[in-house]
Amino acid sequence: MSANLEFEQFRAFLEKTCGILLGTNKQYLVSSRLNKLMAQNGIKSLGELINRIQAQPRAGLREQVVDAMTTNETLWFRDTYPFEVLKQRVLPEMIKASPGQRLRIWSAACSSGQEPFSLSMTIDEFERSNPGQLKAGAQIVATDLSGAMLTACKAAEYDSLAIGRGLSQERLQRYFDPRPGGRWAVKAAIRSRVEFRALNLLDSYAALGKFDIVFCRNVLIYFSADVKKDILRRIHATLKPGGYLFLGASEALNGLPELYQMVQCSPGIVYRAR
Ligand SMILES: C[S@@+](CC[C@H](N)C(=O)[O-])C[C@H]1O[C@@H](n2cnc3c(N)ncnc32)[C@H](O)[C@@H]1O
Repeated sequence: MSANLEFEQFRAFLEKTCGILLGTNKQYLVSSRLNKLMAQNGIKSLGELINRIQAQPRAGLREQVVDAMTTNETLWFRDTYPFEVLKQRVLPEMIKASPGQRLRIWSAACSSGQEPFSLSMTIDEFERSNPGQLKAGAQIVATDLSGAMLTACKAAEYDSLAIGRGLSQERLQRYFDPRPGGRWAVKAAIRSRVEFRALNLLDSYAALGKFDIVFCRNVLIYFSADVKKDILRRIHATLKPGGYLFLGASEALNGLPELYQMVQCSPGIVYRAR
């Protein structure tokens, strides 16, 4: 089989498995991300890789390939404004509308945990400045496709490089415990609000229940317009009426005005479920 045909086959495999749509000119990306894995497994071509995955669907190779092909870039309090909007606007509004109700938040592609733990710290900061208002507390469900990322999330320990990305000294001192080797562990009170689960966004969300707030940030950009629309429709079905959707700073919700109302927050835009 020609290298081009093998690349096309690999593109189709990746989109079917996890929604990620590779550009037709991304051969270099595939080889740079898969070279090591293929060499370790004695695999010489993309065609051979796909055959191996199809022959042994449970051998873990599929997961390793998907892990290698996904982008896990993340940081604490990414873009700042979503966490400020949550604290200043969304939480007070929700408490007023349903006092005494436990809030449920979904971090829908949580990578190595910075997003759900930033959400948990935001809840803690809100509770400190508004004592007694969030009576029933909040639960954060954090999901990702990648087993490696979920293992990192559950460990909840970060090196100085990861810690240096977006975390103030004040938050570091308040919410983390130092560990040997310059590492930092998220404190139990912040961890205990977050439940991690494996979930492919292409699969059903039925087992997750309903949410007040969904963070689905910096993942839909990798999907085709159709897959993105389908995911946004199904996220809407998980949101309670009046619930909020937060997308990445560079992402916009094109279409679906019947499902979401755009709310301008200066800075930032969020979407309210109709
Ligand atoms: C760039 S990170 C974004 C992390 C975080 N939301 C943020 O904004 O910082 C994208 C994450 O999406 C996950 N991902 C990619 N495809 C996915 C899918 N089909 N289902 C669930 N998660 C997926 C990747 O494993 C990765 O951890």
